[in-house]
Amino acid sequence: MITEYYTPTHVYIGEKAETLAGKIFSEMKTKKVLIHYGSGSAVKSGLLDRVKKDLDEHKILHIELGGVVPNPRVSLVREGIRLSRENNIDAILSIGGGSVIDSSKAIAYGLYDKEMGEVWDFYEGKRVPEGAVPHGVILTLSATGSEMSDSSVITNEDGWLKRGVNTNFGRPTFALLNPELTYTVSPYQTSCGTVDIMMHTLERFFHKGDSLEVTDRIAIALLKTVMDAGVKALKKPNSYEARANLMWAGALSHNGLMNVGYEVRGDWASHQLEHELSGKYDVAHGAGLSALWPAWARYVVKENPRRFALLGEGLFNIQPGADTMKEALETIDKMEAFFKSIDMPTNLRELGINPSEDDIKELAEKASFYNKRKLGSFKVLSTLDMENIYKEAR
Ligand code: NZQ
Ligand code: ZN
Repeated sequence: MITEYYTPTHVYIGEKAETLAGKIFSEMKTKKVLIHYGSGSAVKSGLLDRVKKDLDEHKILHIELGGVVPNPRVSLVREGIRLSRENNIDAILSIGGGSVIDSSKAIAYGLYDKEMGEVWDFYEGKRVPEGAVPHGVILTLSATGSEMSDSSVITNEDGWLKRGVNTNFGRPTFALLNPELTYTVSPYQTSCGTVDIMMHTLERFFHKGDSLEVTDRIAIALLKTVMDAGVKALKKPNSYEARANLMWAGALSHNGLMNVGYEVRGDWASHQLEHELSGKYDVAHGAGLSALWPAWARYVVKENPRRFALLGEGLFNIQPGADTMKEALETIDKMEAFFKSIDMPTNLRELGINPSEDDIKELAEKASFYNKRKLGSFKVLSTLDMENIYKEAR
């Protein structure tokens, strides 16, 4: 068994890390940057202006494109590609969370594309990206780990399909992580981020096949830290320590470290099922995950209750005994209670949606690529299984 572990992103973490952008682009001999950002937080905080001043001081030309929304849209990606071609852009700088970074990754694939073809092709799996222009990140929200991950997830308004591309070309060139920039993140987004970071480790932890003890133990340590830090950040949004723990854990959770030595890369069914929810209902990704995970966990637990029990022993001090299934179910209850304690939904009702039978069929059909793929590895899910999990999550 071989695991690939490739994390080329040059990370700078600490106070004022964002002030390094101009210097780094200058060392890269970058001429003109597209600054990509979201719906306003970077403008309101003054961060965008500070970054532009820094680029000016380093004589890096720049243009900007804001307006990325959560569950980023392919229409803005197309605009970003067009604008960047017109302006001879040779690098992209993201200022934001996962949505901005993912949108930038898509622009970076499109700009690199010698065929100058349709960027959505990459997300439909019709073509694979052959490269990406250099991409730097100033992270403002700890959640997705996109600042180091190989993944980009984009929503196509035509049919409301949310699809991801995984390629090493997606890993950003550099990431500037200043925990202070996340002090203004709302309690809701702080909780969503906490769940998402946890889930990137949990998805990997629940796999079928061999494990490596060191990775299992790092997983438990990471999960514990994130749970504590999430609670602390909610109580004290300006806690540097809590925000720094969330920020670094977010990157580590999704950069590949958490599946080293595992036979497969993880389960990922909860994520795929969630992407259909946020594609169709435009809900926050982290909230969608916490609404689905308990139903997924109870549906699959009998495949390997020992794995759940191991998690419960590490995270909740559940004492190992003769009844592994009891321990496993208690672990799921405790995890659900944790999600509730940080005001995250644990079912679809609490998420604010009420899908009909037809909606559920549609969600499962989309998640299964119209019966062309199965999901998961801990338990391999058929389209019917997917429907059942959505139903049990109601
Ligand atoms: O747009 P602005 O005004 O910046 O506001 C954002 C947005 O409303 C706000 N925000 C960000 N930084 C802030 C802030 N508000 C105050 N202060 C700050 N410092 O937070 C809101 C949510 O932002 P978004 O970027 O959408 O959140 P997140 O980072 O959770 O990204 C979610 C997207 O990433 C995808 C998700 O599916 C979803 O589309 N994912 C990407 C992954 C990847 N590329 O590796 C992995 C994940 O599993 C996930 O699928
Ligand atoms: Zn996620």
